[in-house]
Formats: sequence, C-alpha cells, structure tokens
Amino acid sequence: MPQHAAQFIVGNCVEVMRALDAHSIPLTVTSPPYDTLRDYKGFEFPFEAIAAELYRVTAAGGIVVWVIGDRIRNGRSLTSFRQALFFQELGFSMHDVMIYQKKNTPFMRSNAYTNAYEMMFVLCKGKPRVFNPLKAPTKRHGREMLTHNKLPDGINKKKRGELKKEKTRTNIWAYAVGLGGTTRDRIAFQHPAVFPEKLAEDHILSWSNPGDLVLDPMCGSGTTGKMALLNRRRFLGIDISAEYIEIARQRLRDCGLAECPPA
Ligand SMILES: C[S@@+](CC[C@H](N)C(=O)[O-])C[C@H]1O[C@@H](n2cnc3c(N)ncnc32)[C@H](O)[C@@H]1O
Repeated sequence: MPQHAAQFIVGNCVEVMRALDAHSIPLTVTSPPYDTLRDYKGFEFPFEAIAAELYRVTAAGGIVVWVIGDRIRNGRSLTSFRQALFFQELGFSMHDVMIYQKKNTPFMRSNAYTNAYEMMFVLCKGKPRVFNPLKAPTKRHGREMLTHNKLPDGINKKKRGELKKEKTRTNIWAYAVGLGGTTRDRIAFQHPAVFPEKLAEDHILSWSNPGDLVLDPMCGSGTTGKMALLNRRRFLGIDISAEYIEIARQRLRDCGLAECPPA
C-alpha cells in the first residue's frame, strides 16, 4: 500500500483479518456495535472470533483501542467488562482503561445520574512499541516556591523553581459530540454511531508514528481512516456494510484524501 493512502474492504472482519499476516498491525482503533443498541443493517458480530483475530494480527508491542459502551436498560449490561476479561484471557495486556467523556449528552435517566462516558480499552501485545504522550497546558506556570520531598530531618524545604507549562494528559478524554463536535462532515451522520474525529486522532498520535499502518476492522463512516491519513499514517478499513464503506470512501474523497484502488 502506498504511503498515506487508505484501503477499504467490504466484509465480515473476521474473514478479512484471516487473510492478513500475523503480527502485522501496529495499531487498531475501533468501536464495535454496543449490545443491540443500533441496527447496523443486519450485521453479524461474532465478538470472540473478532477478538482472537485481532490478537493474531497485532504486532509485538502493538495496540488495540477498543471504544465501547454498555446498554443501559434495567441496569448496565456490563458487556464491556466481559469483553475486557476475554481480551485478557487471549493474552492481551489491559494497558489502560481510559474514559471517553461526552461533554454534551442527551441520555438522561430518571433514577440514576446522566451517563456521560464510554470506555476506551487500550490493549497491548506485550509492552507498547510507541507512546507519544499528549500534553495539556498546566493551569499555573512561571516561577514559584516549589515544595521538596521531606528529608530525614522532617523539614519541608522549599526552593524557587519553574512550574512546567504543560503536563501529560490524564486518561480521561472529553469531547463534544454531534455535528461540529464529532465531526463537521455531514455525510458521516448517515451512519448511526460515529465517534469523534479528535478521539481517533488522539489515539493515533499517542500509539503510532507517521508511516505506520492503522486498522479499523469495523470502520463505519471512516473516522479512523480520515484521521490516520491526515496524520500521515496508512489505513485499512473493513466494514460488513457496503453502504457504510461507500459513505467512508465519499467522506475521504470530500476531504481530498487518497484511497488505493481496490485490491
Ligand atoms: C460503532 S460502529 C463504528 C463507527 C465508526 N467508529 C465511525 O466513527 O463511523 C460499528 C460498525 O461495525 C460494523 N460491523 C458490525 N459487525 C461487523 C463485522 N462482523 N465485520 C465488520 N464490520 C462489522 C457495523 O456495520 C458498524 O458500521
């Protein structure tokens, strides 16, 4: 595949991934169907087979970011927890459980607090090959009296020092959702469950380097692909729905991004 181009394949990702080499994918950023919350045109979602194929194709030190929410009806389904444990049994290390916080959410509950988050499982095969920590500006910076660790005399000595301008972000990431938040690409909303472009971008920047291949085996409207290409990565997108793949292709074309001719 040429540098900075996308390839899309229509099909059940289990079968498509079976044709990929073992240990060939450095980063996957994906979001599966959540329980039965959406109708994705009669898809088949064999979770355990997908998880096993993801483990096989992931490179040593490679990462799979699995964005997942639970169905909430008479309590939470906890499908996310069951999936997390299954990934661990397969051999993935649960490198982190991150939170995708929604800045705006219409989902109110009458007998519980409004749900405002989904989970982002960061699964790793071994130890991460790449970690480019994203930074956030600190609230205060400049020179200030800094506290030092206490020495054996018990006295807390202070010294004038420089406060850092930025620090590594926490593992809770907040995004606005909906048109203008998730994306400005109206075409993407022809798909029922798009995740924010910035979320995909932040993971791509964190866990891969330019030129790396990024996989989304359930790519829907192509969000991961758009952000991979804009950040000079290569992209392989799979979806069981030909209609969704067409949306993804058109979205990339509208953004002036390149697609490889179908294999
Ligand atoms: C939550 S959506 C992904 C949305 C995507 N992240 C975006 O931003 O547009 C899940 C997708 O998984 C696809 N899907 C479900 N089962 C699949 C399977 N077995 N193989 C490939 N795709 C599948 C659905 O068609 C749907 O587009």
